[in-house]
Amino acid sequence: MLLLPLLVTSLLHVALAHDAQGGKCLTDWRHDDFDVVAAPFFDEAQARLSSWSSTDKDSFAGVPVPPLEIRPLAISGPSNNRVDLTFFADGYLQDERDKFFADAARLAEDISGNQTFNTVKPLMNFWAAFTPSKESGVGVGGKPKDTPFGLYRDGTELRGVYYAHPKVAGAACASLGDQCDYPILLGNDPLYGGLGGRFTVITPSLANGALILRHELGHSIIGVGEEYDGGFAYFGPNAYANLSEPVPWARWLTHEKARVERSVMPMQDYAWALLNTSSPWTVTFTSAGMYARHLVRFSVSGMPDASDMRVELDGEDLGQPEAQMCNAEILEFGDEDEFVSKPGHYSLYPTFSQTNKTTYRPTNEDCLMRQVTTPNFCKVCIEGLWLALLQDVSLIDDITMTACSSLSSSSAINPEPKLTTLRLHLVPLAHLRTVPAPPEVTESYSITWSKDGEVLHELANKTEVYVEQGRYAVEVQYKTSEVRVDREGRLGAREEVTVECA
Ligand SMILES: *[C@@H]1O[C@H](CO)[C@@H](O)[C@H](O)[C@H]1NC(C)=O
Ligand SMILES: *[C@@H]1O[C@H](CO)[C@@H](O)[C@H](O)[C@H]1NC(C)=O
Ligand SMILES: *[C@@H]1O[C@H](CO)[C@@H](O)[C@H](O)[C@H]1NC(C)=O
Ligand SMILES: *[C@@H]1O[C@H](CO)[C@@H](O)[C@H](O)[C@H]1NC(C)=O
Ligand SMILES: *[C@@H]1O[C@H](CO)[C@@H](O)[C@H](O)[C@H]1NC(C)=O
Repeated sequence: MLLLPLLVTSLLHVALAHDAQGGKCLTDWRHDDFDVVAAPFFDEAQARLSSWSSTDKDSFAGVPVPPLEIRPLAISGPSNNRVDLTFFADGYLQDERDKFFADAARLAEDISGNQTFNTVKPLMNFWAAFTPSKESGVGVGGKPKDTPFGLYRDGTELRGVYYAHPKVAGAACASLGDQCDYPILLGNDPLYGGLGGRFTVITPSLANGALILRHELGHSIIGVGEEYDGGFAYFGPNAYANLSEPVPWARWLTHEKARVERSVMPMQDYAWALLNTSSPWTVTFTSAGMYARHLVRFSVSGMPDASDMRVELDGEDLGQPEAQMCNAEILEFGDEDEFVSKPGHYSLYPTFSQTNKTTYRPTNEDCLMRQVTTPNFCKVCIEGLWLALLQDVSLIDDITMTACSSLSSSSAINPEPKLTTLRLHLVPLAHLRTVPAPPEVTESYSITWSKDGEVLHELANKTEVYVEQGRYAVEVQYKTSEVRVDREGRLGAREEVTVECA
C-alpha cells in the first residue's frame, strides 16, 4: 500500500484510456412513494416522480389490470403467511415469454439459491407474472415504449430506469392480493439500470440485475439505509450515530469493548462527470498525512471494460480500477491494529455522509448495503431481516384435525374415548427445511403442547399428536444462530385449538 506523504495536497486524475461510453454513474438510489430517502443523485428522479407520489392501493380502483400469466418460481407456503416477491414483465413480446420466465427464475435463484436471502427463503415466495408487450425493450430519451408499465431511461445513460405507468403496476400488484408484497418490474434490456422504491425496477443484466435487486430489497424489506459513504440516509439496525448511546449491535461485536476503527474520508465527490478522452476529471484534496493506509474508490457505469479507464494519484498510475463502480472517494485508515479491515470483524466502522457527518456501521465491507458487489448482508442486517420478515409471517401455518374415532371397538359398558389427530403445520425451518441451511447456521424448533394450561410433556416437539377432546394450546419457539436478540418475541408463535368429539 502507498503511504500518503504528510500534509500534502494530492491530485487525483481520472481519464478515459480510449473512447468508451463513459456514463454517469451510480451506486444506489431509492425513491419511495411516501418516504424519500434517495441518494443525492436521485433528486432529479424524485422531482419527476413527485407527480404521482400519492399512489396507494386505493387509487388503483378503476385502473385496468393487464393480463397476467402467473408462474411460481419458488414457493414455500401459503401467500397469506409469506412475504411474496413478484416479478412483472415489461418490454417482453409474446414470443419473449420464455425469456421472461427464465430471466425471473435466474434472478430469484441468484438472490436466494445459496446466498443473500438463502436462510430466510422458507419465509418467502417468488412469483413471475407475464404480460406481453407490443414493443420489445426499454424506452430511451425519456420516452416509454408501448409496454404495460412504460419503463424508460433518461437519454441513453445507464443509470435510472423509470416507470411511466405506476398505477397500472399498482393495479397489477393489487389484483394479486397476498401474492404481491414486493413488486419487481423487470425491464427487458441487457444493460445496467434500475430504481428503488415501492416498485423495484431492474433489468435482467447478467452483471447487475441481481446486484441492484438484493440491495433495493435490503432497503424495502429490512428497512435499512445505506452503508456506503457520501449518502445521506443512514438508519435501521445497521446504523449507529451517537457514541454515548448503547451500541445497537453490541451482541455481534468481535471484542466486547466497542471501539471506533480509525479512519477518515479526505475526499468524496459525486462528480457525475461524463468522462471523455480529451479532458480528464481531476480533484485536489488535502490529506492530514496521519494515516498508515488509504483507499481510492470509484464507481463508474457504462464502462464496457476496466481497461477503458486509467487512474493516477500524484502522477503514479494506480492501474485499472474495478469496473462498474460509482463516485470518487478517498479513505485513509490506521494500520491493522487501529483499523481491522478483515472480513468477519464486527466493530464500529465510521461511515461519512455527503456532508461529512459520521455514523457507524458494523463491518468494514461485509455488507451489500455498503459494497453492492458483495452478495450478502452482514450478520446485523440478517438478524434485522429475520425480525422484519417474521413481523408478517407466523411460524405456525395451520393446525389441522382428523375426524374423531375410537382406537378399538368400544363396549357399551366401558366406552373407549374418541381420539383425533392434530397436525401442526410449521413454516419449514430447522429440521423441516427441504434444503438444509448452510452448516454454520444452527437452528431448532421447540414445540410445547398443553391442555387446559397443563403442559403435556410426552408431546414435546411433536408436530402430530393423537388426543382426546379438550382445549389445547401449542407454543412454538424457533431458535437460529442468526438472531441473538428478539425483543418482540417474533421467533415464537402460539395457537389454540378445541377438539370436540360428538
Ligand atoms: C452461489 O452460486 C453462484 C452461482 O452458481 C456462485 O457463483 C457463487 O459463488 C455461489 N455462492 C456461494 C456462497 O456458494
Ligand atoms: C447522545 O446521547 C446522549 C446520551 O443519551 C445524549 O445526552 C445526547 O444528547 C446525545 N447527543 C445527540 C447529539 O443526540
Ligand atoms: C471530513 O472531516 C474530517 C475530520 O474533520 C476531515 O479530516 C476530512 O478532510 C473531511 N472530509 C471531507 C471530504 O470534507
Ligand atoms: C470532455 O469533457 C469536458 C469536461 O466535461 C468538456 O468540457 C469537453 O467539451 C468534453 N469534450 C468532448 C470532446 O466531448
Ligand atoms: C425439543 O427440541 C428442542 C430443540 O431441539 C430441544 O432443545 C429440547 O430438548 C427438545 N425437548 C424434548 C423434551 O425433547
